[in-house]
Amino acid sequence: MKQKAFIFDLDGVIVDTAKYHYLAWKKIANRLGIDFTHEHNELLKGVSRVRSLEIILGLGNIQATNEEKESWLTEKNTDYLNYINAMQADEILDGVLPVLDWLKANDQLISLGSASKNARPILEKVGILHYFDAIVDGNDVTNAKPDPEVFLRAAQLLGKSPADSIVFEDSMAGVEAANIGGMTSVSIGDPAILQGAHYNFGSFAEITIQFLETLVNK
Ligand code: BG6
Ligand code: MG
Repeated sequence: MKQKAFIFDLDGVIVDTAKYHYLAWKKIANRLGIDFTHEHNELLKGVSRVRSLEIILGLGNIQATNEEKESWLTEKNTDYLNYINAMQADEILDGVLPVLDWLKANDQLISLGSASKNARPILEKVGILHYFDAIVDGNDVTNAKPDPEVFLRAAQLLGKSPADSIVFEDSMAGVEAANIGGMTSVSIGDPAILQGAHYNFGSFAEITIQFLETLVNK
């Protein structure tokens, strides 16, 4: 069997933390008089913390000082971490563990490719840090998705070319980043939102071993 690099986004792919990002941002947005819907939230998926705040302020046409922005960023992350601290292994999304187990058992390489600066503690919290041969997160990159930097770094750390790399993503920005990087993109979520991915699944639970074998032997 060939060996490929399998690169996983974190939020919304491995764990259902997208809802916590949403709740933490919504509190601040609503206080600023901004109606922050789930549709708006799609714009924030895969996007860095700082950029997320800029997008929210843009929705409300709000100008703010650097001090205000700093305090909202801190508040958002404090609230988010409170949600994260209560997380347990049952918040790993359905179907993820069998895929990680199959990849490990079949000598495939696994990396994280996430925009989050909280990635490591989350993986530790839900007990799956040991699956990862490499971790690239928001602390390691300068260019946010849709720039492919995070995925290219991950592939490089695993010693694989983009053509031998497969990315699992739930965000528009992430699918675009994988495609720009010359990798195979597998989107997880609504195909109407995640257009442009090479493959789409509603959830990880729909991914079969047969499909994984196809990816490995491509
Ligand atoms: C991404 C999320 O994975 O990480 C975004 O999809 C989030 O919604 C980004 O803004 C940054 O996360 P964090 O944990 O560093 O605030
Ligand atoms: Mg995501």
